[in-house]
Amino acid sequence: MLSTELIQKYNVQGPRYTSYPTVPYWSKNPTPQEWIEHVQSVFRQSNAEEGISLYIHLPYCESLCTFCACNKRITINHAVEKPYIEALLKEWNLYLSLMDEKPIIKEIHLGGGTPTFFQPENLHFLLSTILNSSEKHEEAAYGFEAHPKNTSKEHLSTLYDLGFRRLSLGIQDFDPEVQRIINRVQPFEMVEEVVNNARAIGYESINFDLIYGLPKQNLASVEMTIDLINRLVPDRIAFYSYAHVPWIKGGGQRLFTEADLPKDAEKRQLYETGKQMFEAAGYVEIGMDHFAKKEDDLSKAMVNGTLHRNFMGYTTFHTSMMIGLGASSISDMWTAFAQNEKKVEDYIQKVTTGEIPFFRGHILTNEELVVRQLILDIMCQFETEFPDDFFHDWTKKRKAQLMELEEDGLIELKGNRLKVTEKGKAFVRNICMIIDDLLWNDQPQTAIFSKTI
Ligand SMILES: C[S@@+](CC[C@H](N)C(=O)[O-])C[C@H]1O[C@@H](n2cnc3c(N)ncnc32)[C@H](O)[C@@H]1O
Ligand code: SF4
Repeated sequence: MLSTELIQKYNVQGPRYTSYPTVPYWSKNPTPQEWIEHVQSVFRQSNAEEGISLYIHLPYCESLCTFCACNKRITINHAVEKPYIEALLKEWNLYLSLMDEKPIIKEIHLGGGTPTFFQPENLHFLLSTILNSSEKHEEAAYGFEAHPKNTSKEHLSTLYDLGFRRLSLGIQDFDPEVQRIINRVQPFEMVEEVVNNARAIGYESINFDLIYGLPKQNLASVEMTIDLINRLVPDRIAFYSYAHVPWIKGGGQRLFTEADLPKDAEKRQLYETGKQMFEAAGYVEIGMDHFAKKEDDLSKAMVNGTLHRNFMGYTTFHTSMMIGLGASSISDMWTAFAQNEKKVEDYIQKVTTGEIPFFRGHILTNEELVVRQLILDIMCQFETEFPDDFFHDWTKKRKAQLMELEEDGLIELKGNRLKVTEKGKAFVRNICMIIDDLLWNDQPQTAIFSKTI
């Protein structure tokens, strides 16, 4: 059990490290020409060997969940679907025009917003067009985020026929009081029906998204939720720490107050309880906030050392090229990032004029590429090895802080190796923060990240 003092000491604001450099520290914006050069160079090097990944952002939702920090647009007007899909295909064609052979797609992830907001025939049109202009990797993994409220049998069978075998259901919590305050009432039976339909159709992997630290959550509500979850036997579970970021535009987080939130040790206890219950039910903890059945590919990837982390979270493999289509999507060419316009109208407008619709990005320096790999190792394998001269320009204060992590029992240092201890796993974001040169040299003066616990 972690002490309250330790939790309070390390519960500071910090990045979740789905990328390095983290988005607020992007500074070397690529020009459109530079971006094209990065895309073409990584495509030539990696398409035949690794294939590419595709993330497609579908931003619409019919109602607002008050905890949500995702980039979404709330509407019940389904006339928005077709123009948005046309824009996605224009953007896809822009990328295709940069490639001298057919892309081999290893991974597709439909995220949101709510992908199942879109009618099955519109999803079919979008995806069949993309799939007809590319090749399918022999180890392809296609998945989508599904809202239990509007995932019909037709959605499931349409996407299955296109090659999708994974889905991720947003559950969050089953307690009626928590569901009421987060404006997301979805009874167990509704979720059970989607799970049964998906399994009957042939889906091979079902993930559940849960959050700990939501308003009005307590130990009893988390225990009740996990008992129900275990009845449905998902293959994977993401058990996210609630990120309280009320400054994000379009959020609903101002609909409850900080007083409604479990904090510090109380919040961490919710995670520890969940972890014990998942482990007792046969799941293995993966990285920072994920669980998977022992026989799942994610657990095997952790054992084999091939676990990877990207903007979508943990994955079983690494592709150097990830194209993010749609408003707010981030593309990652390993040596450079670019983020698309966040507002749907700006995105559609840019793409219509034939521009790759990004509004900011970052080209990584060689030093940043080194740190990127170190942080990835820590997030995925809980250990890493520093290059020989890594600490040469560290200040005394920074070295002392690294030592303090060791004195507090969170890491073990042996020569150039750093290993996160069992106790340190709760503080993995804090451990990465000491290695993050950019954060160390320029600490934020206002709140830009959620708290680490
Ligand atoms: C795009 S949503 C999932 C798809 C679909 N919109 C749904 O809600 O079912 C992705 C996931 O992000 C997580 N999420 C959203 N806001 C969060 C926050 N403030 N803190 C932690 N996790 C959050 C939720 O678990 C959610 O299921
Ligand atoms: S949690 Fe999902 S459904 Fe709810 S507002 Fe966010 S993206 Fe939309």
